[in-house]
Amino acid sequence: MPEHLRIVGGTRLHGEVSVCGAKNSVLKLMAAALLAPGKTTISNVPDIADVGYMSELLTRLGCTVVRTSNAVSIDVPHNPGHKADYDLVRKLRASINVLGPLVARLGTAEVALPGGDAIGSRGLDFHFKGLEALGVKIHSEHGYVIAEAPNGLTGAEIVLDFPSVGATENILTAAVLAKGTTTIDNAAREPDFVDLGEFLISMGAQIEGLGTPTLTIHGVPNLHPTDHVTISDRIVTGTWAFAAAMTRGDITIHGGRAKDLEIPLEKLASAGAIITSTADGIRVRMENRPQSIDVSTLPYPGFPTDLQPMVISLNAIADGNAIVTENVFEGRFMFVNELIRLGAHISVDGHHAAIRGVEQLSGAPVIATDIRAGAGLVLAGLVSDGVTLVEDSFHIDRGYPHFAEQLQALGADVTREGRKLAQ
Ligand code: UD1
Repeated sequence: MPEHLRIVGGTRLHGEVSVCGAKNSVLKLMAAALLAPGKTTISNVPDIADVGYMSELLTRLGCTVVRTSNAVSIDVPHNPGHKADYDLVRKLRASINVLGPLVARLGTAEVALPGGDAIGSRGLDFHFKGLEALGVKIHSEHGYVIAEAPNGLTGAEIVLDFPSVGATENILTAAVLAKGTTTIDNAAREPDFVDLGEFLISMGAQIEGLGTPTLTIHGVPNLHPTDHVTISDRIVTGTWAFAAAMTRGDITIHGGRAKDLEIPLEKLASAGAIITSTADGIRVRMENRPQSIDVSTLPYPGFPTDLQPMVISLNAIADGNAIVTENVFEGRFMFVNELIRLGAHISVDGHHAAIRGVEQLSGAPVIATDIRAGAGLVLAGLVSDGVTLVEDSFHIDRGYPHFAEQLQALGADVTREGRKLAQ
C-alpha cells in the first residue's frame, strides 16, 4: 500500500516548529535564474520533491544544478536549451514559469502544456495575453506552447483581468529584459511574488511598485546572477497556526511572518486564539473550543485560498455555524466529502460551503487530493476520535517538508505507514 499517515486524534499540540522557505517562491526563483548566465545561489530552500523536479528541468536545459541541505546553486550556460518536456511539466505545474525567462533571453521557448489546459482556455490565457502584448507570438503544437520573439520583446501596458500570481510572474520575468517600459495593472501582490520581484532586482532588474497593484518595469539589456534567501512559507506558518487553534494547543512558530498573514491571524483571533509576536516569529495558543468564523478567499491581502481547507476543518469542530466562500479556485471543495466521512456537517452550494460545527469528529480513512486539502485533513484527524488514515499523503510532502515528524515533535500521535512512492 502506498504511504499514508496514521493519526490518533486527541492530542493538544505543544512546542516549537521552524518554518521552511516558501514552495511558491523558490520554484519561481529557480526558473528566473535562467535570465542570467552564471551561478545563482538560492538558500532557505525547502526539502520538497518539487525542488527536485525543477532542478531536473533546469539540468535538461543545460544548467548545472547543485543541491545542498538547504540551498541550491544553478549555473546557467550562455546558450541554454529552450524546451521543457511534458514528463516534467505534468509533475510540476510551476514549470510554466520558465516560459517568460526563456523567451525573453533566447527569443524562443517551448513548454509542454500542463494537463487539462488548452491554449486560450481558462488557466493560462492571462499568461499568453500578457506575453503577446510584449510582442511574443504564441501558438500550440503537439501539446506544447511555442513562444517566439526573434526580434526581442518590447514594453507594453498590460491590464490583467484577475491578479493571477502565475501570469504576473511570467509577464514580469519577460518584461525585465524587454526594450522600454512595461506596466502591469491589477498585478499579484502575494508576498511570494514580491520575493521574486526582489530577486529580479538583485539581478539588476528595474521594477517599481512591488506589493502594489501597479508594477512599472524598465527593461534592461542584461541581468547578472545573484544570491538570495527565499522568503519563509506563509501557508506553512498559517497551517501551524490553525493546528494550534484546532487542537487547543500552544505552538511557537519560528520564522513565521505575521505581516504576511494579517487576515488569517485576525480570523483566528476572532475564533478565540491568543496570538503574540516572538523574537523571530509568532506564538499561537488556544484554551477553549474555537468559535466558528466566516471566511471568503481572495487574492492577497485577502484570506489565502491555500488555507481554505484549514479554515473549513476548524469550522467543522467549532462552536456555531459558518460560511466559507471560495473565490479563487473553483473545484477546491473536493475534499469536503472526505471531511464529511469524518463526521463533519458541511453542505456545499456552488462556491459556498455552509458548516455546522460538531463537538468532535470521528476518525476514518480519507484521501488527500492535493497538498492543502491533505494538510486540512491531517488537522481534522488530530481532532477526531480514534484513528484517521490520510491516504495519498505524498501530496502533503510536496508542500510540507517533514510534516509528520514535526507533528510528532509537537506531541501528535502520527506515523507514516506503507510504501514510500519513488520520486
Ligand atoms: C499560485 C499558487 C497556488 C495559490 C494561487 C493563488 C504556485 C505554484 N501556486 O497558483 O498555491 O493557490 O497562486 O494564490 O505558486 N487563471 C486564469 N487564467 C490565467 C491564470 C489564472 O483564468 O491565465 C485563474 C485560475 O484558473 C484560478 C485563478 O485565476 O482560478 C488564480 O490563479 P493564479 O493566481 O494564477 O494561481 P497560480 O499562479 O496557478
